[in-house]
Amino acid sequence: MKKQLNLNVNGQDYEVEVEANRLLLQVLRDTLDLTGTKEGCSIGVCGACSVILDGRLVSSCLTLAAGCEGKKIETIEGLAKDGKLHPLQQAFIEYGGFQCGICTPGQIMAAKSLLDENPKPSEEEVKEWMSGNLCRCTGYYKILESVMAVVDGKTDPNYAFRKRETTAKIQSLDVYKSVAKTSSD
Ligand code: FES
Ligand code: FES
Repeated sequence: MKKQLNLNVNGQDYEVEVEANRLLLQVLRDTLDLTGTKEGCSIGVCGACSVILDGRLVSSCLTLAAGCEGKKIETIEGLAKDGKLHPLQQAFIEYGGFQCGICTPGQIMAAKSLLDENPKPSEEEVKEWMSGNLCRCTGYYKILESVMAVVDGKTDPNYAFRKRETTAKIQSLDVYKSVAKTSSD
């Protein structure tokens, strides 16, 4: 049975007619064409479909669209304003917080929901909060680095290519040098 719904997504009202059992993820992507929200596991485990509903982070693959009427839905499409990226989007680009990008909208929405509540979380708090968002590509460090860059005010809106000078990189070069030296001895 179809149901008439009024959904408020990123501040805009949408009238939709959908089956009563349609999930928010399906309505966002298939009915409203807001395909920024991704589908990964479909069972509430990976966090790829994360959106913010009335200020709370939810898995849209587990949320009935019919239950969202009268609530404020925030998706990745609503973050950039007036052609300017949200600081989290900026940071993920600047600090390389993604590779294939499938998990990225969910990661960013998860981080946003944390920073909306607590703009100055510790690294441990970020790790704990983001533990529900899985990534098959990045190894997580760059995601953490991206979020902490926003927390610490280290993003640069005029960023072109950030010089990477991390201790880890220098250390790994030293390891290569010592291996090369040993093998040529
Ligand atoms: S697709 Fe919803 S949690 Fe994985
Ligand atoms: S960037 Fe590919 S799954 Fe996270």
